[in-house]
Amino acid sequence: MADLDQAARAILRGNDLGGYTVPTAGLYPFQWNWDSCLVALGWATFDEARAWDEIDSLLSAQWDDGMVPHIVFHKPSPTYFPGPDVWGTGRTPPTSGITQPPVAATVVRRLLETATDTALTEARARSILPKLFAWHRWFHTHRDPQGEGLVGIIHPWETGRDNAADWDAAMAAVPTDGVGDYQRRDLQHVDADQRPKKADYDRYLYMVKHGREAGWVADGLHDSAPFCVADIGINALLLRADRDLAALAERFGDGAAAGALAGWIARSEAGLQRLWHDGEGTYRSLDRRTGALVDASGSGAFLMLTARAVPDDRRQRLLAMMDRWLAAVPYGVPSLDPADPRFDAKRYWRGPCWLIMNYLIADGCTWAGRPDLAARLKADSRAMVEKSGFWEYFDPTDGAGLGGDSFTWTAAMWLAWAGQA
Ligand code: DGY
Repeated sequence: MADLDQAARAILRGNDLGGYTVPTAGLYPFQWNWDSCLVALGWATFDEARAWDEIDSLLSAQWDDGMVPHIVFHKPSPTYFPGPDVWGTGRTPPTSGITQPPVAATVVRRLLETATDTALTEARARSILPKLFAWHRWFHTHRDPQGEGLVGIIHPWETGRDNAADWDAAMAAVPTDGVGDYQRRDLQHVDADQRPKKADYDRYLYMVKHGREAGWVADGLHDSAPFCVADIGINALLLRADRDLAALAERFGDGAAAGALAGWIARSEAGLQRLWHDGEGTYRSLDRRTGALVDASGSGAFLMLTARAVPDDRRQRLLAMMDRWLAAVPYGVPSLDPADPRFDAKRYWRGPCWLIMNYLIADGCTWAGRPDLAARLKADSRAMVEKSGFWEYFDPTDGAGLGGDSFTWTAAMWLAWAGQA
């Protein structure tokens, strides 16, 4: 364990470009939003001040409307596509035009709970509270214009679960006109059978083109985007983060923020229950363009446990689904139902396991009264790293490492959770 702890710390230091950590060299040479937040948990195990720098550097790129972008292009790099010129957001530093799962408030609350340097932690948490609140307000206003208690995402990259089967039908409706020729860089770093397909990329780029042509104006985009889905995963993580931010607002005496958050929490709690699929016994995302629930059961649903948002009867059925999935593969938790014909053990979010998902879901299992499941996810995470190393994701059928190697958030999850007693 000590060797792996040391190796994990070396990955964080090696991927540190000065105040921010890239997910991995080559494949992802910039700062990614939810990567950085979760990576802060790893930094905090040996350098608390550096953990806060990670979050501060991300929030330094916050837009005036409150959005915190999914990529911050601090320094140029030729090894990634699409770069700043394709996004065309006109920001300094350049950023993408979309966001990512808002886990920052959840991480900040955790950093406060585990702090050894309390004075530093309190001061730094207090200083970013207004920024976190502005980001959450952006979600609840610009991405939920009808006040339904569900935010919409306008690009699969916003969910972090880029090519999940959840998006298949909504993606099929996205045109590809005018995308033109382009050269993918990801395939120079990772085998094609572990990455999204060309048909996915054509649509990813069409959506970026649409946003660029619309000037990335938040309100209009929700309604005009060719793809708009109320993702179960991001909605669950937002609800969890709202709860954590409300606790922070209370702690720091910001009654106005706490009051607004209480309203959003109540609205989301109600809105999310509309995503229950009674036939399958799980939650599913909602396609805002068709008004229908999507036709795939993915691991995003388990984040409802992390959100502490599953009523008793539904909880038993959702946990039964997790039991069934975990009985089907030696390493959990797969990103797609292993019984789904589209299950693909190696392809990114269509089967593989991710340590960050295991960490978040294990927290939900503990809340749901299933410490055995939490322990299984932790043991599986540990076993995959011990067997294969610090890969981006893992094959649930044999624990083999996939995607990028020396991956920062996998190393961080080891330090903060999987590798620890
Ligand atoms: C990618 O380029 O694969 C990223 O996931 C986009 O955020």
